[in-house]
Amino acid sequence: MDCRRFLSRLWKWGVVALAGATVWTSWELLRPTGGQVSGPIATVPLDTIPSESVLEVPTIRGYLTEVDGTTVSLNWKCPHLGCKVPWCESSGQFECPCHGSVFNRAGE
Ligand code: FES
Repeated sequence: MDCRRFLSRLWKWGVVALAGATVWTSWELLRPTGGQVSGPIATVPLDTIPSESVLEVPTIRGYLTEVDGTTVSLNWKCPHLGCKVPWCESSGQFECPCHGSVFNRAGE
């Protein structure tokens, strides 16, 4: 086999391998799960969710609170640049330590 033919075959097999990897990755990403989630799910009793403060839940990377009788789930990631926004008990609001953004319990 000459060098030109070898490189041509190598190129074609590379394309086939790339196409296979693309299909495999797409299938893993898009395949139906039947509504089932793999891994443990943390549950929080509703009566432990505070109405004047927030409950930090690390497994959801966020907070649970109650606003106007509705349970609200908030991600702790700041929409500005992604810092974790802690709850400040003394001010009663979320205060981002990175650039000073402030959010109320509804996340506004
Ligand atoms: S990352 Fe929160 S204000 Fe910039």
